[in-house]
Amino acid sequence: MGQHTVVLLPGDGIGPEVVEAARRVIAATGVEIQWRTFEAGAKALEMYGSPLPEAILEGIRGSGVALKGPVTTPIGSGFSSITVALRRKLGLYANLRPIKNIPGVSSRYQDVDLVVVRENTEGLYSGIERQVDGDTVEAIKRVTRQASLRIARFAFDYARSYSRKVVTAVHKANIIKLSDGLFLECARKVAADYPEIEYRERIVDALCMDLVLDPHRHDVLLCPNLYGDIVSDLAAGLVGGLGVVPAANIGDGIAVFEAVHGSAPDIAGQDIANPTALILAGAMMLSYLGEEEAAQRVEKGIREVYSRGQYLTPDVGGTASTWEMVDAVLSHVCS
Ligand code: NAI
Ligand code: MG
Repeated sequence: MGQHTVVLLPGDGIGPEVVEAARRVIAATGVEIQWRTFEAGAKALEMYGSPLPEAILEGIRGSGVALKGPVTTPIGSGFSSITVALRRKLGLYANLRPIKNIPGVSSRYQDVDLVVVRENTEGLYSGIERQVDGDTVEAIKRVTRQASLRIARFAFDYARSYSRKVVTAVHKANIIKLSDGLFLECARKVAADYPEIEYRERIVDALCMDLVLDPHRHDVLLCPNLYGDIVSDLAAGLVGGLGVVPAANIGDGIAVFEAVHGSAPDIAGQDIANPTALILAGAMMLSYLGEEEAAQRVEKGIREVYSRGQYLTPDVGGTASTWEMVDAVLSHVCS
């Protein structure tokens, strides 16, 4: 397959720990990758005067692929989210989050197999807010036909490629009639081109109840940006928590792989962060690079470690450190 070039963004908080874990596991597969590492967020702001230097965007446009750790976003004020800016600036319009049980991870449900497809470029994450007067602010929820059609097509193409049976559009069009209405209109239009896939619609609050009562009721969830964010974390909770769910941000010929979780400042530097989500994001990346055999080997390594239950981090019920868990995964990937 030759050598791949991949941009590596360690991020901050637990980011550098779990990104290094993923990098080592990927290296153990023997796939040759030339990593180009960049700082983003607060560290980059300090070093280069911008939390998202242009060099990062150019780097990812050049390689077409990046593996990214979580980046802390100041709350309420300060710079806006690097993750959101990356998605928008690189046209990473689809956020794909496969939610599956890993046997051995204690969770409320077994055999969950959901896919959250989240619109990644607009909606309430457009960052258009304004101060109306001293006591009033407004946030604009921007929805376009082009982005809505594009994400609906992505969800149905994904369903077709992976033989999924149902795509459910998630909305609140009963209240937010125009914007969620346009999102639904586009989903319906695209659905008509995929007669073999069942198309359903569900209001977001009712969907959350469905998922908690019985996640097996759903298959592929097609979500606008904000609902997709919320539903992803809820769905992660159904299969054992944020430590185990990977994500891909995908555009045309460009992709950034990461975890669903954030920088977890509460546990940073303690060597207890669960590296699974970033390692599985690495497996998704290998698959995207055409290194399917290596991707399978990484996934299998993770499954082996969980099924033995010996080297698990505290969030999934164990007492192992991050590095003990990584070593256990490595022993299966190398063998
Ligand atoms: P978070 O996902 O960082 O943490 C939520 C809870 O889950 C915490 O108790 C944390 O300890 C735990 N957790 C998360 N990942 C874990 C892991 N791998 N192993 C064990 N436990 C884990 O969410 P929070 O606290 O809301 O956000 C922290 C920061 O991360 C914020 O600045 C936020 O903006 C940023 N963030 C960045 C994201 C990204 O870069 N893609 C995504 C989400 C949040
Ligand atoms: Mg989130």
